[in-house]
Amino acid sequence: MKLNSTLSGLALASVLASSWTHALPSGLDRRQSETQGYYSPATNGGSMLTGNTASGLGEPLNVIVSGQSDSGVLSQDGFEEFSRALYFSPGSCLNISQGGYQTANLGDGNGAKPQTNIMRYNFKQGDGGTCLESLKGGNHFRYWIQNGTAANSGAIFIAASVELNATLNHAIAPNGYDDGRDQLVGNATAGTLTSPGGFQYTVSRQSSSQLLSGVSASQINHDIGIDGVVDVLTVRITKNGSIGTGRSSASSGGSTSTPQQSSAVSTLTLDLRTSAVAILLAVSVASGLSLVL
Ligand SMILES: *[C@@H]1O[C@H](CO)[C@@H](O)[C@H](O)[C@H]1NC(C)=O
Ligand SMILES: *[C@@H]1O[C@H](CO)[C@@H](O)[C@H](O)[C@H]1NC(C)=O
Ligand SMILES: *[C@@H]1O[C@H](CO)[C@@H](O)[C@H](O)[C@H]1NC(C)=O
Ligand SMILES: *[C@@H]1O[C@H](CO)[C@@H](O)[C@H](O)[C@H]1NC(C)=O
Ligand SMILES: *[C@@H]1O[C@H](CO)[C@@H](O)[C@H](O)[C@H]1NC(C)=O
Repeated sequence: MKLNSTLSGLALASVLASSWTHALPSGLDRRQSETQGYYSPATNGGSMLTGNTASGLGEPLNVIVSGQSDSGVLSQDGFEEFSRALYFSPGSCLNISQGGYQTANLGDGNGAKPQTNIMRYNFKQGDGGTCLESLKGGNHFRYWIQNGTAANSGAIFIAASVELNATLNHAIAPNGYDDGRDQLVGNATAGTLTSPGGFQYTVSRQSSSQLLSGVSASQINHDIGIDGVVDVLTVRITKNGSIGTGRSSASSGGSTSTPQQSSAVSTLTLDLRTSAVAILLAVSVASGLSLVL
């Protein structure tokens, strides 16, 4: 084989490959999304690890809500209503916007995007219960929607992990990624779920050990090993409700984030009208805590 033709063959192949990867998915890929309900980010330059962490290492996207789920859960509002049925609320504590955002590139043509939101376990105390999570630690997750035009599956990619308490600076617990996934999925698949707004859901689970295969602990934030399993959930709405109703008034939820790198110096936006914030702050200051991720 002549070197020249090999090289031009390679060049042609790479031009074809790059135009192919930026085009709409092929028929084969589209069928894959129709059966799987998501596109593997790696097939189009993305990754199953998040970015923009303080260490530069990623956190695993270890749960996917399949794009084959009912469309009512595949938007920010619908998904956060569903999350509340699992006792996860948007991660701001009484409107204190805290912590940093991470990014994910889901291979959908949108590149690395900041998380759509961060959700924290609310200890069944309504939206205000996320303050307990911030203080005591517990399960939390960030999520992104795979909806760019290059891979528009509508699937929701979740990075779940159990974090330690505020004294311990919210480091990830030992085995915190696998445990975060298992607690989330364990609750999701435990039976019929009911959201504050009266929706009911049932969830089925499959898992993939391919998506995260080959990732080692040294590539992962906090150097914590993972078993490499990604759980893929299909959510069915079995009863419709009304998004946004029935929530506790303790907090409206909505969280804003600042870049993780600056979170160490603590960028808190305070709403001091709320005495609970003052109490929490008093507790924090007294124990020398920093309310960051
Ligand atoms: C994709 O999802 C994000 C996050 O909810 C949303 O802001 C955006 O409008 C969606 N894009 C499309 C094309 O639907
Ligand atoms: C955080 O956990 C450590 C170790 O268990 C404990 O000593 C500390 O009191 C805890 N802090 C809070 C705020 O719960
Ligand atoms: C449900 O979630 C809570 C909080 O993360 C956890 O303590 C519990 O073990 C989970 N339940 C199951 C069945 O996984
Ligand atoms: C819920 O509402 C959606 C949108 O109106 C509808 O397509 C779906 O069939 C309804 N589901 C149930 C279980 O009533
Ligand atoms: C939280 O902030 C939002 C937006 O700034 C505001 O609309 C809402 O009333 C606030 N909620 C509380 C409980 O202060």
